[in-house]
Amino acid sequence: MTLPLVLPDPRARRRLEIGLALLADGQPAEAAEAIRAAIEIDPADAETWHALGQALEAAGEPAEAAYRTALQLDPDDRMGAAVRLALIGAAPAPAQLPEAHVRTLFDQYARRFDTALVDALGYRGPELLRRAVDRVMSEGWLDILDLGCGTGLAGAAFADRRRRLDGIDLSPAMILQAMARGIYDRLEPGEIAAVLADWPERYDLVLAADVAVYIGDLGPLFAAARDVLRPDGLFALTAEAHDADGWRLGDHHRYLHSSGYLAATAAAAGFAVVEVEGAWARRENGTPLPGWVAVLRAS
Ligand SMILES: C[S@@+](CC[C@H](N)C(=O)[O-])C[C@H]1O[C@@H](n2cnc3c(N)ncnc32)[C@H](O)[C@@H]1O
Repeated sequence: MTLPLVLPDPRARRRLEIGLALLADGQPAEAAEAIRAAIEIDPADAETWHALGQALEAAGEPAEAAYRTALQLDPDDRMGAAVRLALIGAAPAPAQLPEAHVRTLFDQYARRFDTALVDALGYRGPELLRRAVDRVMSEGWLDILDLGCGTGLAGAAFADRRRRLDGIDLSPAMILQAMARGIYDRLEPGEIAAVLADWPERYDLVLAADVAVYIGDLGPLFAAARDVLRPDGLFALTAEAHDADGWRLGDHHRYLHSSGYLAATAAAAGFAVVEVEGAWARRENGTPLPGWVAVLRAS
């Protein structure tokens, strides 16, 4: 994770923490007041401006200026101000979540990721992918690339079929957890499409478990996956379901895609659709989120 260049003023930090606690407690107007007091002491902290945006939003007040200031102070956008601006209707949805935002989220989440996701949210993306791939290609050793490998849950689901297993992920802390499993041959930190632009290996199977949800326009991801697959190789991925056309950014900061969009994007990238099945990969507030498991064949 990138560290701020200047340490935050402790008095401002205390007021920000009070503001965040009030916000979590459902008192957004009081939260905004505490956060404004933090800004008076330290007006150059992006996180504080972002928190002000959240408090104002929750209080039903205009939040655009606060988010724009956060973005100006941190153009890499670790807090995801561009996402909030899109969700309040003040800017178009970004084509994917800001890289620094994804990295920050998952660097913070890495140590408790497996328990938080599997136990609390009933996550079963890797298991869905394994079953889908087994239906199409039930035996044989595979050279596998795990995109957005995280802590390696999807890699682990395919460990008994791997001849080679590589992984790519934006979050170094998630990669460290994956490394500890001892099942990956190569783990590369970075953004998927950027890393794959210059990638020497070729694969029988490319996986993307719960990764397309952080990307709206899937064109670059599909094209990159196609480029590293051998002829007839498979690309297996999960996605959250959008019941209208195309894709959209959801309130929960993840993207939803229609099955028609997946099929059209697959065809444009040089894939034949083997199957796109409705299936939920995780719950949100106890309710399964409708989704897709897609298996595409490099044609
Ligand atoms: C919800 S986790 C899923 C991890 C793993 N695939 C699994 O099934 O447990 C999503 C992972 O994708 C990574 N990620 C999201 N967008 C990415 C991108 N554009 N490039 C590289 N990694 C990305 C995140 O850092 C995170 O580790």
